[in-house]
Amino acid sequence: MIKMNRKYRKTIIAGNWKMNLLPSDVRSYGDKLKRMAAKIKWCDIAVCPPSVMLPAAIKVFNDSRIGVGAQNICDQAKGAYTGENSAAQIRDLGVKYVIIGHSERRQYYGETDISVNLKAKAAVKNGLIPIICVGESLDQREMGITIEQIRIQTKIALFGIPADKMRKIVIAYEPIWAIGTGKTAAAEEANEVCEEIRKLLRAQYGARTARSVSILYGGSMNEANASDLLAQPDIDGGLVGGASLDPEKFHAIILAANQ
Ligand code: PGA
Repeated sequence: MIKMNRKYRKTIIAGNWKMNLLPSDVRSYGDKLKRMAAKIKWCDIAVCPPSVMLPAAIKVFNDSRIGVGAQNICDQAKGAYTGENSAAQIRDLGVKYVIIGHSERRQYYGETDISVNLKAKAAVKNGLIPIICVGESLDQREMGITIEQIRIQTKIALFGIPADKMRKIVIAYEPIWAIGTGKTAAAEEANEVCEEIRKLLRAQYGARTARSVSILYGGSMNEANASDLLAQPDIDGGLVGGASLDPEKFHAIILAANQ
């Protein structure tokens, strides 16, 4: 049975390579994935390699429907920010998406809700589709403040972004305790949080906009649990880390999105 909400919003499966693989791996990965995913029409696919590998990824996916995403951008437009890449620079390469506010960036590189908001705005301004990550820690879940945490992160991330830009925004719910741990949130549990995010979008932007936004789940998604997660009404795709490094495993998750 094809999910009803397909009428309103896209299903997206995005692979987050994190700091894995080499520039010289991109070609063979890309060729394999393109071959396997050649007929896929029911979902959008994105591959997000480290920024140094973006040109190679653009080149290999150029003749396919597979979009390329960055994992980060600078929150400033240009200037003296050694080591950073601006949204305009990333866009100019032909990149389509950018992951913003991943919990690893928040945890290891001091990203805050405020910088996430600046980056989201920079992405939108430059024609990149931000995949904005939100998620609670294990402590927060145990304290019963998951929804509060998600609401605060989402509201701040979207501050100042008008309704007409929301169709070009993707939100990824990634419970921190599920990332890279092999522990996945139960499908219904993950859906509850995604539903809350949509409620917040509805209150802020109205029902039509809220139902047009794709909300992804991320955190140990793999070929075994993907169908259950992706069958949930408010989960519109996945942000896949570990399992995206192998094109076959990634492809199996893409196939699971066909429901
Ligand atoms: P994981 O990572 O699938 O390896 O848990 C997901 C993510 O961090 O985006």
